Amino acid sequence: MPWQNLIITVPEHLAETIEARLESAGALSMTLGDAGDTPVLEPGPGETPLWPELSLTALFADDIDLAPLAAALQAEYGLAASPHVAAVPDQDWTRAWMDDFKPMQFGARVWVCPSWCEPPDPHAVNLRLDPGLAFGTGTHPTTALCLKWLDVHTHDGDRVLDFGCGSGVLAIAALMLGAGEAWAVDIDPQALTATRDNARRNDIADERLHIGQPDAPGTWRADLVVANILSGPLIALADTLCAHVRPGGRLLLSGILETQAEATAAAYADRIDWDAPVTQEGWVRLSGRRIDDA
Ligand SMILES: C[S@@+](CC[C@H](N)C(=O)[O-])C[C@H]1O[C@@H](n2cnc3c(N)ncnc32)[C@H](O)[C@@H]1O
Repeated sequence: MPWQNLIITVPEHLAETIEARLESAGALSMTLGDAGDTPVLEPGPGETPLWPELSLTALFADDIDLAPLAAALQAEYGLAASPHVAAVPDQDWTRAWMDDFKPMQFGARVWVCPSWCEPPDPHAVNLRLDPGLAFGTGTHPTTALCLKWLDVHTHDGDRVLDFGCGSGVLAIAALMLGAGEAWAVDIDPQALTATRDNARRNDIADERLHIGQPDAPGTWRADLVVANILSGPLIALADTLCAHVRPGGRLLLSGILETQAEATAAAYADRIDWDAPVTQEGWVRLSGRRIDDA
């Protein structure tokens, strides 16, 4: 069956009212996006912040005449731009979504492969991972930066702490690259469930991967602590993260914008000896070694 979209630019305070109006007019689904360029970086648990100006896309069956509804919405709510209608060609939606997520390579050895694809290189470190509710498939530059680092720097038997594990991608990759044992922690229960599922999918034995809330590892110390969160939390967590790195161990941080790299590194001054930062698409990776007597 063919479909059509009604696309409307609305101010945030009208979004709910207009959504209700579209629903009663027969909209089958609605999608909200940023109509401007205002990034919402990482909402806290339970928060769903919106952009000041939204692009609302409502999907309708093809046999509804949307012109009168579009005109009425513009007049009633004084919308600056007139809503417009775009045809949505019929296609196999499952196929289209699956076609978008393809195996990706990170460094020399690591591949992230969706479950419906054969790994392109059967001898590589093939992490089976499907897009889900938790962050972390490798499509984001911050995850990619960390996976590339792990590809080179994971040593056999390493003890690894993945702080803010999301899908568990970094802890699982480290274990598959030879790390001996890992903790994966996150404040979001959905992330812990996703990590558990992904560990099973990749045949990671329970005794090698511990999963829990951020305080669960207690005073456990790791050879390598990885945290891909955001600059603000990374600065606030400096004492906690440093305490988990054994003297001489390594710390890997990502989720930092270029403009935030200096301040983030400074929060760890005298405790971490930083390598040169590495940037990908405006995001920075910081890696370094804990100073012995810090
Ligand atoms: C950007 S995602 C990273 C996921 C994955 N590690 C990756 O590299 O793709 C950040 C994760 O950190 C978690 N997080 C945010 N603040 C946190 C905190 N203070 N303590 C622990 N986890 C936190 C979020 O719930 C989210 O799952």
